Amino acid sequence: MNKATRAAVIAGNWKMNKTPSEASVLVSAIAERAAGKDGCRVVLCVPYVDIPAAVEAARGTNVKIGAENVHFKESGAYTGEISAAMLVECGVEYVIVGHSERRQYFGETNETVNLRAKAGLAAGLKVIICVGEVLEERQSGITSEIVSMQTKLALAGITPEELENVIIAYEPVWAIGTGLTATPEQADEVCGIIRSVVAGLYGEDKAMALTVQYGGSMNDKNAAELLSKVNVDGGLIGGASLKPDAFGSIIDAAQ
Ligand code: 13P
Repeated sequence: MNKATRAAVIAGNWKMNKTPSEASVLVSAIAERAAGKDGCRVVLCVPYVDIPAAVEAARGTNVKIGAENVHFKESGAYTGEISAAMLVECGVEYVIVGHSERRQYFGETNETVNLRAKAGLAAGLKVIICVGEVLEERQSGITSEIVSMQTKLALAGITPEELENVIIAYEPVWAIGTGLTATPEQADEVCGIIRSVVAGLYGEDKAMALTVQYGGSMNDKNAAELLSKVNVDGGLIGGASLKPDAFGSIIDAAQ
């Protein structure tokens, strides 16, 4: 299996942006740009409160709706958290776990990332697991070790069948929201490292079928070159996913 047979996934991560009424308008605008573009899957991961409006606006289009996080317990005394079953009932199909902003600001650890991933998969969600090094780690030459460790720990206990619903997003932390983008060669190299870690855990066939995204200041100008790389199967896009034209151009680049 080669790149051409893997699912290309262009996913937006809106982070803490857009109210429900704004979400409705933005999903509709992106759905219009995505219409008929069958060369990739288009996903918008939105704030929890935007989910009903986003699902409604995406109905009948080729845009799928995701959440930006999920808790690992089914229910209980976890003030402020949202379960996988709640997301599923709202029409959510994808969920991001382990985003570096969650790791950096909200105490997310490799262990909780793994628990959240397993909870999402058990509920039937497609899970986008984020991994990536910080600048000091890249400068110390330990990117490969960090990303391999995060990947292995995130996938602990996930079955080969469940892996079919996993996407891994390589997001170098130094490239997120900074305007600094990994070069296509850097993105390709680390996405390739992730794929070889998965090959070691699950075998070559599973690894070759895995969608590995790049994220970090991907935009309409740099997307085509990043997405042309053999190990880069899509993008996880922050800022540019809030702009229908820029995001539309990234979808075009993935065709
Ligand atoms: P930016 O595209 O804004 O750099 O954000 C990337 C990201 O964090 C996606 O999850």
